[in-house]
Amino acid sequence: MDPLKNPYSPGAGAPPPELVGRDTTLMQAEILLGRIKSGKPEKSFLMTGLRGVGKTVLLVEIQKKAEELGYKIIFIEAHEDKSLGALLAPYLRTLLYNLDRMADAGNKAKRALSVLRGFIGSLRIAYGDISISLDIEPELGSADSGDIEIDLPQLLVAVGEAALASGCTIAILVDEIQYLSQRELGALIMAMHKLQQRQLPLLLIGAGLPVLPGLAGESKSYAERLFNFPNIGELSKVDTYKALRDPALAAGVDFEEKALERIYEMTQGYPYFLQEWGYKAWNKAKSSPITYTIVELATQEVINQLDNNFFRVRFDRLTPGERNFLRTMAELGEGPYKAGDIADKCHVKVSALSSTRANLMKKGMIYSPSYGYIAFTVPLFDQFMRRTMPNYP
Ligand SMILES: Nc1ncnc2c1ncn2[C@@H]1O[C@H](COP(=O)(O)OP(=O)(O)O)[C@@H](O)[C@H]1O
Ligand SMILES: [Mg+2]
Repeated sequence: MDPLKNPYSPGAGAPPPELVGRDTTLMQAEILLGRIKSGKPEKSFLMTGLRGVGKTVLLVEIQKKAEELGYKIIFIEAHEDKSLGALLAPYLRTLLYNLDRMADAGNKAKRALSVLRGFIGSLRIAYGDISISLDIEPELGSADSGDIEIDLPQLLVAVGEAALASGCTIAILVDEIQYLSQRELGALIMAMHKLQQRQLPLLLIGAGLPVLPGLAGESKSYAERLFNFPNIGELSKVDTYKALRDPALAAGVDFEEKALERIYEMTQGYPYFLQEWGYKAWNKAKSSPITYTIVELATQEVINQLDNNFFRVRFDRLTPGERNFLRTMAELGEGPYKAGDIADKCHVKVSALSSTRANLMKKGMIYSPSYGYIAFTVPLFDQFMRRTMPNYP
């Protein structure tokens, strides 16, 4: 069938032809945006889930809704090698200059700019990963201690006050939140706490791998009170069928029931995978309906392609020790896995594996779904590990 008409959209952040199964989350987002906009308190949220479930797509959808409501948006993607402050500062700078140009923001925007100036100055000393500058005198003693947990709340409160003074509402959207350090995440949470106390019009919505189990103490108890943590998961069977069938039907093409069943079986309802299967099956099919046999032909191609791309790029970034660790996990089945079981299988103590484990977490390969457990962040990675390292030592 005509590849130009192929409706499926495999790829990171690629909007699907139809966003199925996310109505509840989108509804929650609309309520949150609407309430904050009208000055009412509401819990912000951090969406968590595995790779390829559609978090980025949701975040972008929420961004659109926020824009429709007139929000000013800052959208950043956290990064292993860049500090949160350095990511935020350029956007805050643009935003504050905009507010400053609006007549009634008055000196609140100017003040926030000089607080930002102090913040940037101390970031430069702490990380050196920031290149922007501001032609304004810093406000001494505000947001310039060099301690992100003190500085970020002060800075965002100043920004929130400027927003309030100019009658606008700000949404900060952060993707890949798992790459924030514990202190950075703690700082964001503390900032949200302060903003909420003062009822300032600035909200935070994040997406990433689950971060809550890694938080401790104060930040954790605040986080639980200030945020909802909707889990973005795989799609149900009904939704998987819908995600595959509706876009095809719109182009006058149907699937055999058995074909859909097979794709569901292979993908377990993971959005990214089902886009890949839909895409390849469409291109293989000669005419409607897409049959079981076509899906089988597509499957081999999809698996090869995932092995050579999606899975492979992640595998290639690992040291031999990290690969063995993941291979051991795969040997134990689908997971989640107890740290102790992995250590036992390797015939070592749990402590001997702790640095490998920490590195794998930092690289976003594994996460802790609950205390004492770890799991793969990429669905079906266990199968890939068994395929790519067939012999377990
Ligand atoms: N609700 C959905 N229904 C169907 N496909 C989806 C859905 N959400 C996301 N996808 C598809 O899944 C893939 C991964 O989406 P993405 O947002 O990048 O995931 P994540 O950020 O969780 O890794 C994309 O190809 C996207 O089109
Ligand atoms: Mg993403």
